[in-house]
Amino acid sequence: MTTWNLQQTQCHFLLCNGGSCMKQGGEEVTQAIRDEVTKLGADKLIHTTRTRCNGRCADACVVIAYPQGVWYKNITPETGRLLVHKHLEGSRLEEQIVYSYEREFIASGLSIEGIAKG
Ligand code: FES
Repeated sequence: MTTWNLQQTQCHFLLCNGGSCMKQGGEEVTQAIRDEVTKLGADKLIHTTRTRCNGRCADACVVIAYPQGVWYKNITPETGRLLVHKHLEGSRLEEQIVYSYEREFIASGLSIEGIAKG
């Protein structure tokens, strides 16, 4: 069990470790992002959490950034490292955004629409 002090956290990456993302290299993406955060001395600023499926398997590997409210698709170890730099600079990896949340989810049009709910 771990209890981190998160008071200085500026960004929380949710790293999808569901089955589809793991088949597309989710473990390598997780390690690359965590290694880059540590390499940059940014552990206090960026927190990471492994998750189960986030319901966007066609977008594997999925990474979600909060409080920015941005969902990323097709993240690789290389783009994962870039993602760390972008969020530390206060920007985003625009070319891989699927959704951004600004009072409602806004689809970027870069991915399939998906199955309609109820
Ligand atoms: S396994 Fe990652 S979105 Fe489904």
